[in-house]
Amino acid sequence: RLSLTPVCESGEDVLLVENLSKAYDNNVLFTDINMDIKRGEHVALIGSNGTGKTTILKIINRLIRKDSGKITLGSRVRIGYFDQEHHDLDTSKTIFDEMSDSFPDMNNTRIRNTLAAFLFTGEDVYKKISDLSGGERGRLSLAKLMLSPANFLVLDEPTNHLDIPSKEILEDAIKSYEGTILYVSHDRYFINKTATRILDLRDRTLTNYKGDYTYYEENKDRLYYLQHEDDKVQSKNISENHEPAKSDGRKEYENKKNEYARQRKLANDLKKTEKLISETEDDIAKTDEQLNDPANGTNAALLIELSQKKEELEEKLLELYSHWEELQ
Ligand SMILES: Nc1ncnc2c1ncn2[C@@H]1O[C@H](COP(=O)(O)OP(=O)(O)OP(=O)(O)O)[C@@H](O)[C@H]1O
Ligand SMILES: [Mg+2]
Repeated sequence: RLSLTPVCESGEDVLLVENLSKAYDNNVLFTDINMDIKRGEHVALIGSNGTGKTTILKIINRLIRKDSGKITLGSRVRIGYFDQEHHDLDTSKTIFDEMSDSFPDMNNTRIRNTLAAFLFTGEDVYKKISDLSGGERGRLSLAKLMLSPANFLVLDEPTNHLDIPSKEILEDAIKSYEGTILYVSHDRYFINKTATRILDLRDRTLTNYKGDYTYYEENKDRLYYLQHEDDKVQSKNISENHEPAKSDGRKEYENKKNEYARQRKLANDLKKTEKLISETEDDIAKTDEQLNDPANGTNAALLIELSQKKEELEEKLLELYSHWEELQ
């Protein structure tokens, strides 16, 4: 049986998104959305076409810039991203070689078994990736992702182009995966089988449903209203979900504990940022030295390269300075 335990376990906190906003010119996608995902959760992000789900996943993967807000990955979190368009596959290789080259420490039996679990059996494994259908490529990418050292899978419409047997394989794989998953899907049957929580992106805001798709359908309007009646109600419900109320003493203990953890994390980030700032400042000074070195005075290509490097470093430094300010 296929084991889907990530090699390295993340901390309890996996992803914290605070007041995230994004607009394209006049098209406001979402404003001030919040997300708090813990280890082991399998969260489905749903919403109509064009509401900004892919954008959220890409922002989390730092592929698109956010307008404002904060994204924090927990300790030891390693993201594995599955993008509908760009699979991380070398089309000139065979299925088997793609796997054995990606996981050189894995023996042939384990590679064979994994591929079989994802429905590549017998001579199939010697097919070239360039000859595979979109669905087969998707299936292979997912197999790779599940074996990778990632412990937080971020999947954008993973069931697209999958036939029914492949979809069932993926359902089982997700169910037995012990890491954390955030995925976008429009497939309510798939969501009902695999999600432990649902986030609905609607009206430029996120609503949290702590249950499967049936729970979502039954509570759609009630929880939407409760969470967005006003901001105070929203944050209260997001933090409490629909768990039983905790006693005041317990709550105070938890608040203090969380605050302590938050402060420690800030102090840690601050130290790291200060170290990066001083390293970047040193790099700029070194680049300046080279730029001003008379020996380089006639090497135009080098001078251009050095000034570009300096510009990039200065840009990086500016970002570090603002991050440092945020942490104060
Ligand atoms: N680079 C861009 N410039 C301007 N608008 C963009 C850009 N990228 C995406 N958009 C727009 O932002 C909106 C959200 O796009 P996004 O791909 O995040 O939606 P989605 O929720 O993933 O939709 P779907 O369910 O169809 O995949 C769309 O209206 C899209 O046209
Ligand atoms: Mg999308």
